Amino acid sequence: MKTPQSRHSRYTEQAIWSASLRQYLIEKTGLQKDSRVLEVGCGTGAVLDSLQGATGMVCCGVDINLQDLLFLHQTYPVLPVAAGDAYALPFAADSLDAVVCHFLLLWLKEPVRALQDMFRVVRPGGWLMAFAEPDYGGRVDYPQELAEPGSLQAHALHLQGADPESGRRLPDWFESIGLEDISCGVMGAEWQIGQAEPPLETETPTLAHDLEKYVSPDTLDRWGKISSAAQARGTRVLFVPTFWAIGRKGS
Ligand SMILES: C[S@@+](CC[C@H](N)C(=O)[O-])C[C@H]1O[C@@H](n2cnc3c(N)ncnc32)[C@H](O)[C@@H]1O
Repeated sequence: MKTPQSRHSRYTEQAIWSASLRQYLIEKTGLQKDSRVLEVGCGTGAVLDSLQGATGMVCCGVDINLQDLLFLHQTYPVLPVAAGDAYALPFAADSLDAVVCHFLLLWLKEPVRALQDMFRVVRPGGWLMAFAEPDYGGRVDYPQELAEPGSLQAHALHLQGADPESGRRLPDWFESIGLEDISCGVMGAEWQIGQAEPPLETETPTLAHDLEKYVSPDTLDRWGKISSAAQARGTRVLFVPTFWAIGRKGS
């Protein structure tokens, strides 16, 4: 995704997928309206805005990409954000009620080191929450012709520097930094045959972006048509197991 706007469209779609899970997890932790929450790797603000709107909590964000932070500031001027690195968060120790992330850890070379710094800034009794980490190793595609772009996309993510299997490692990472009361899970999926799926607006552009170096435009176009036709019938299956985890810092 080449521009902040195109990334924002993608992030907004992903934020919708995980909205009800976030709500469920926030309720599970007992965080309150005045809780101070930081999203690390907030990007263009899709999750941060939704979190603030849905919960009324005092939400702020940190990201390392200045272009996306500028976009965020112009789009959501009231949301407080800061430029910063997940490995050295610009917050004092024990200063926040919760630190959250969403599709961040797969992009980090040292996810456990970043989690340790998130742990540092959470107050004793506060929460660390990873809302969504994908696992492309468990991806399911249908129709069958779409299995090939599915596995190529995981490979392309790896070449872009991501860990396409961060999802399965999440429970291990949370356990290793000393959190308590850890719960983990995988996001479900549900749809109804006979009702056309709402088009996954950013799916085809994302595939094109990830695979442009490896396959011809004609092949991408053919896969796009197969996917759209199946989506229109409600028979397209694209399931990437997406893991979540929450854990509490001991008092
Ligand atoms: C896939 S995006 C997710 C954005 C947002 N969390 C969302 O889901 O809408 C990952 C974000 O992590 C940020 N990021 C990557 N490495 C980072 C680091 N070391 N410190 C802070 N942010 C980082 C990127 O700039 C990007 O905005």
